[in-house]
Amino acid sequence: MATILERYQELHPRSAALHVEALRVFPNGVTHDVRHLAPFPLYVKRAAGSRKWDVDDHVIIDYVMGHGALLLGHAYPEVTRAVTEQLQKGTHYGACHEMEIRWAECVQRLVPSAQLVRFTSSGTEATMMAVRLARAFTGRQKLVRFKGHFHGWNDSVVGFSLTAEATPQAVGAPLAALRSQVLVPQHDTEALRRALEEQDDVAAVIIEPTGASYGTVPLEPAFLREVRDLTERTGTLFIFDEVVTGFRVAPGGAQALFGVMPDITCLAKVLAGGLPGGAVVGRREILSLLDFGDDEWNLKRRVSHPGTFNANPLSAAAGFTCLSLIADGQPQEQAAGVCRRLCQGMNAIMRRAGVPGCAYGFSSMFHITMGREVPPPEDGFLWRWEGRPGPTVPGTSRERLEALKRGMLNRGVDLMRNGGLVSTVHSEQDVEATLAAFEATLADMRREDLI
Ligand SMILES: Cc1ncc(COP(=O)(O)O)c(C=O)c1O
Repeated sequence: MATILERYQELHPRSAALHVEALRVFPNGVTHDVRHLAPFPLYVKRAAGSRKWDVDDHVIIDYVMGHGALLLGHAYPEVTRAVTEQLQKGTHYGACHEMEIRWAECVQRLVPSAQLVRFTSSGTEATMMAVRLARAFTGRQKLVRFKGHFHGWNDSVVGFSLTAEATPQAVGAPLAALRSQVLVPQHDTEALRRALEEQDDVAAVIIEPTGASYGTVPLEPAFLREVRDLTERTGTLFIFDEVVTGFRVAPGGAQALFGVMPDITCLAKVLAGGLPGGAVVGRREILSLLDFGDDEWNLKRRVSHPGTFNANPLSAAAGFTCLSLIADGQPQEQAAGVCRRLCQGMNAIMRRAGVPGCAYGFSSMFHITMGREVPPPEDGFLWRWEGRPGPTVPGTSRERLEALKRGMLNRGVDLMRNGGLVSTVHSEQDVEATLAAFEATLADMRREDLI
């Protein structure tokens, strides 16, 4: 019987051939680290709803969902219509346009902390601007980050991965940028207090508000309130990185759900309805550092912000349409319900198969940990806990993760690393088909002694 890898190669000859061509133009053959998969990644030619079609004509249930950008699924008709109409009217005016105002008004209406809005072209640009604004506003230099939390790839926020200990490492980033970061473990209030009180130079604390790596290591909401108190007491700004959680966990993001008000919020992904886009939003006096003033102000206080594709008309049309459609919170609940059933089903399968580990999630985001004993959350989905620390979730080995990814692709399902994102158009039938693929993939992995 063919191994998972052999089957993957047999089933995807056109993807393999494109990868050979890609290697001539791209390092590694890919254009995003997460798309890397040995011996070659999947090439997709079309997508609609919860599905995508690869170049070898397989239909795939997709849980990558545009790396989290597609809350409404692929090619949602109203979003497609809005973008098509805009396309015919031009893609870039090199000027202000009405739709950027309507888009920002949606953001302002939905996100509690969004007194003012500034659009960027990506989440990475949003976190870069957030940190710059924090430094400019406070006159301080350092940034406190939490272990494993991801904020894009700009110099201000790289340097620690889930596996890195106290020493920051990011090849190519300036040492000064690495030294300006202080790493604190998630949930460690005492370490945070020390970092803020013993160093008087911390401009901001930045966090993924549902936990490291879109909730792979879930975060207790009470910790957000403690960070808020400590930052307020020390005059430090609190930045929510809601690039993934924004508009997804609730129309107003994690801040609305948990009732914690950050000073600055970073947005992207769902914000732009599946097109490129990001935003930094927050308190008026902070965002006003972007204002023009007299020469003295412009030279010494003003934070400058160009960006060719900021608030580009296509992203504005997609973003405005998407945010209008999800404003009442019902779509988010629908996606979360499907995600819950998916995790519960995966847990039942893992238990039946005697596979150590579990599936868990929050809202429409889910994760799988495999290979070590981790009891699943009581309801098979959401971890709740009173005290601290919260559940520690051991990572899954790369070998297992890759086998799971290939095995699931062999059976028509695309996961995003250790989990994925559910859209509003994933159906109960998708869940059933995914669970059947999962059960069969676990059996495949077992045959190869991978679990
Ligand atoms: C929490 C978080 N912040 C920032 C980013 C960076 O966003 P982008 O990929 O749009 O640059 C990501 C991307 O996945 C993210 O998950």
